[in-house]
Amino acid sequence: MIIELKSLDEIDPCEFAYYANDPNINTYLRNSFPAPYTLDHALSFITHSLQHHALDFAIVVDGKCVGCVGVTFQKDIFLKNAEIGYWLNSQYWGKGIMSQVIKMLCSYLFSNYTIHKICADVFAENKASCIVLEKNGFIQEGYRREHIYKDGCYHDLILYALWRNSDEY
Ligand SMILES: CC(C)(COP(=O)(O)OP(=O)(O)OC[C@H]1O[C@@H](n2cnc3c(N)ncnc32)[C@H](O)[C@@H]1OP(=O)(O)O)[C@@H](O)C(=O)NCCC(=O)NCCS
Repeated sequence: MIIELKSLDEIDPCEFAYYANDPNINTYLRNSFPAPYTLDHALSFITHSLQHHALDFAIVVDGKCVGCVGVTFQKDIFLKNAEIGYWLNSQYWGKGIMSQVIKMLCSYLFSNYTIHKICADVFAENKASCIVLEKNGFIQEGYRREHIYKDGCYHDLILYALWRNSDEY
């Protein structure tokens, strides 16, 4: 299995939309992730990301664009922090893909940017995402009870972080 991170201008928006349009993906994502996910959604996401020089990468597995990972650099007094978010089409879950992607991404971020800390906010029920982060050295640094309101229910939020001076970096 070949896993690559590609710029959004190198991928087919139709393929991106096809794999993003998966009802299993958005359970633990923010409401800004559309469901259903159309070609128009893909085009506007890709255009906006490229125009604003955002750090978003397509996750390409054996030549198919089946997911995405994005980085949001924080501002002001938080400027040494970067927040990551990610999704993968559910046909590709459980194969170790995101664990490898997060490893590649963190290594890239610490090598190319002067950030001190990488953060990720995770629904407490999202065990797969917690494991992916923990396998990559992220530590649970906070827990916010009923901090999320989605689809009529409250959910707990876990704050994960990885520091530049951790064992791996
Ligand atoms: C979270 C997500 C990115 C994980 O990607 P993935 O490629 O399937 O992850 P990996 O295969 O690298 O690792 C998943 C790990 O979680 C484990 N896991 C999966 N579901 C689990 C569950 N319900 N309970 C316990 N462990 C679980 C897997 O066994 C695996 O652990 P292992 O490597 O020790 O066997 C993927 O499920 C996804 O895209 N979900 C929808 C979007 C999302 O939630 N994004 C994260 C927002 S913070």
